[in-house]
Amino acid sequence: MAIILDGKKLRDKILNELTIKINTYSNKPSLAVILVGDNPASKLYVNNKKKIAEKIGINSQIFEYESNTNEKEIIKKIKELNADKNITAILVQLPLPKHISREKILSAIDPQKDVDGLSPINFGKLFSGLKPYAYPCTPKGILLLLDEYNIEIEGRKVVIIGRSNLVGKPLAQMMLDRNATVTVCHRHTKNLTEITKTADILISATGEYIVKGEMLKHGCVVVDVGIFKDSTGKTRGDIDFENASKIASYITPVPGGVGPMTIASLMINTVELYLNNKNA
Ligand code: GUN
Repeated sequence: MAIILDGKKLRDKILNELTIKINTYSNKPSLAVILVGDNPASKLYVNNKKKIAEKIGINSQIFEYESNTNEKEIIKKIKELNADKNITAILVQLPLPKHISREKILSAIDPQKDVDGLSPINFGKLFSGLKPYAYPCTPKGILLLLDEYNIEIEGRKVVIIGRSNLVGKPLAQMMLDRNATVTVCHRHTKNLTEITKTADILISATGEYIVKGEMLKHGCVVVDVGIFKDSTGKTRGDIDFENASKIASYITPVPGGVGPMTIASLMINTVELYLNNKNA
């Protein structure tokens, strides 16, 4: 049976360490979160981020907007937050309503306050071999989790399913930076199983239940980024956990794997941006 990559346990360890550190700061880091629309999952995530931030000593404010709010109003708020010395980190929860340009919104965030590392400056830095002010939270969390279990990355074959800006693309680059051989698959990939069978480390981030046990190589490491409710209301990920855990050497559970690590990374990034921000 595969060893469980316990994201909750590592998250708690990281949060404890951060709490002690933050306690020693004279000012507190402060995270502003912008939420547009009434997507229930986004609301849940945002409230959870605020709750955890406050628990470890980070000030956090949520700015909520109706789904029909126009782009200009959000950009105006971001500019205000950019200029506000009391705000050290800004996060715009994604996805945004269709009429709002994600690129325009992310471009408006001061790169030094861009806690998700998704603004074009930080994304550009990542892809050109420069250090961004912050690394995207989910990929960062996955690497922290693999490192915690001493899973070797250098020289290994990493297969990522999903090419989103949030996960697949930045993760591919971060794996390349760690000297992995990386393949990125997506909905147009042909013969997916042929490729996943070669993976030493397989990461799936599609939000669809697509990875079956027989698609895996014996002893591989499996990371599931997906989380959704299936038709019976059960929370599940992209990967058939029951069968995959008989084949893999390590596997993330859903929930309790990558999700908590995204939050942990967000808190680390918030503290790092604060420390860079000469207010500390
Ligand atoms: N929506 C789902 N995951 C994320 C994330 O990591 N950051 C932001 N901003 N939005 C998300």
